[in-house]
Amino acid sequence: MRLDKYLADNTELSRSLAKRELKNGTITCDGVMVKSSSFQVTEDTDVCWNHETVGVIHTRYLMLNKPVDTLCSNIDEVYPSVLGLIDLPLTERLRIAGRLDADTTGLVLLSEDGKWCHRITSPNYQCPKCYRVQLAEPLCATAEAQLAQGIELHGDGLTRPASLERLSDTEVRLTISEGKYHQVKRMFAALNNRVVGLHREQVGAVTLDESLAPGEWRALTQAEIDAFNR
Ligand code: URA
Repeated sequence: MRLDKYLADNTELSRSLAKRELKNGTITCDGVMVKSSSFQVTEDTDVCWNHETVGVIHTRYLMLNKPVDTLCSNIDEVYPSVLGLIDLPLTERLRIAGRLDADTTGLVLLSEDGKWCHRITSPNYQCPKCYRVQLAEPLCATAEAQLAQGIELHGDGLTRPASLERLSDTEVRLTISEGKYHQVKRMFAALNNRVVGLHREQVGAVTLDESLAPGEWRALTQAEIDAFNR
């Protein structure tokens, strides 16, 4: 691989800034200063920038237990971005596979692998997402039937059939296979109720690791990554 591409892939430098650093003489390969952008390197080359080794960043696949008052956004806005919770380099390159509202907690999957994220978020794949939902009022008796038939969401049409498990009068587990804007909250609003707590427990076959406290993350296992590659 060309050295300027290696630097752009594995540091915050863009390709043009990498070229400038090369010209400035701040890059060494196996201890020797290199100024040529087209110099070829492999994973075994010891590339250093200002005497710090530049290691290869392999594609990352992560799960995060999202706390309240954080944003599934790449920048801090009213609340801080969840990316700030991940103590890895170049987190701005991670994509968030399925966003949660600021007040929603639970499972968020992240990766640089765009195709993998697409299989989680694209309506074409109908990836199931399971939420634990706290409601303001006891749920009506017809909820199962209405959710199975689909709920008309203003401007978004009919929802796909959703499945419901009642945990108490005011607590349910809901599984949906799409991700329209504020979908769960709007579905229960259409049933004359109000969501007062929302926590994502599962996406596809991947369940939130119970050992992760709010704000903690871990790398996915190979089996968890492969669950979306089938
Ligand atoms: N549905 C919602 O209404 N909010 C979320 O955060 C996720 C699903």
